[in-house]
Amino acid sequence: MDVWGTIGMAALFMLTLNTACAAGRLPLVAILATGGTIAGRGDSVEDVMAYKAGVVGIDELLGAMPEAGNYARLVGEQYCSIDSKDMTDAIWLGLARRVEALLASPDTDAVVITHGTDTMEETAYFLSLTVRSEKPVVLTGAMRPATARSADGPMNLADAVRVAACGEAAGKGTLVVMDGGIHAARDVTKTHTVGIGAFATPDLGCLGHVSEEGTSFYRVPLRRHTTRSEFDVSGLAALPDVKIIYGHAGDDGTLVEAAVRAGAKGIVYAGTGNGSIHREAEKALAAAAARGVVVVRSSRVGSGAVLPAEPSYEAAGFVEGDTLNPQKARVLLQLALTRTKDAREVQRIFREY
Ligand code: SIN
Repeated sequence: MDVWGTIGMAALFMLTLNTACAAGRLPLVAILATGGTIAGRGDSVEDVMAYKAGVVGIDELLGAMPEAGNYARLVGEQYCSIDSKDMTDAIWLGLARRVEALLASPDTDAVVITHGTDTMEETAYFLSLTVRSEKPVVLTGAMRPATARSADGPMNLADAVRVAACGEAAGKGTLVVMDGGIHAARDVTKTHTVGIGAFATPDLGCLGHVSEEGTSFYRVPLRRHTTRSEFDVSGLAALPDVKIIYGHAGDDGTLVEAAVRAGAKGIVYAGTGNGSIHREAEKALAAAAARGVVVVRSSRVGSGAVLPAEPSYEAAGFVEGDTLNPQKARVLLQLALTRTKDAREVQRIFREY
């Protein structure tokens, strides 16, 4: 479907949602809980660092924000209960299928996923590339456990429901709602270890805001996602092995060699500056690429695009990672490798998504 077809589908979905609201029927939002700090429990309200993530169940989470029922009818489902640092490809594949199945039902208008903040950006991008639906999918979480004084989870969850239930969220790919910001899955990242304002979209800015006044969107993501994505994970049991290797002064390339020995099909190199690679690591990466491992140049800098640089990078067939940070580049490379092993074709994918 081309971009106008997608906009048409999104407009149709907004019309349906707005008609549902006008008819007095609040949208039905399915909440899938996966764990994280939003479901974290500590021994006392003072415990903001010492707690166990992913132990408070979906019923308790929903009970903490009864006002969300003003914007939507809610059904909760405990999908899994993990600390998101332990996220796996298998959980991603199952989650994508579950979300797609829920959204295929005419009864479900949107999905909200509660998630640990550590890998939320990666799960959001994976879903944005694999769930074929115009309906809103919104991820949220919390930086403070549910039992903490001033826990931020209930507010974030209520905001996420408010965004998911508003017609305007349709057709924008998976969204992340944290601390009042509405972010595109492709571009958002976690930028602080513990502060509640931890999520930002460097360079490009968030898509909009949510508050008690409602939702305001200012821009839309233009790169391919959801119904315009070519990736189909419905029949997959696993994803290709892609490693991230972090560039640094003194890099001697031994980690690149170890990744190849371990069977990596792709390597994202988090280079210095504009995806620059230490000359010793470059030798190892060029040898890897010659053996068919697809190498993507990303950057450890945190903002800006990785652009063409040394002629030797092009000669070795390294792919430019564009504005994707290393962890997002890994997600896209995993999916790209389900379609092709040709570095030029992977480069085409990195230009379009
Ligand atoms: C996690 O990512 O599951 C723990 C940390 C958090 O949610 O903030």
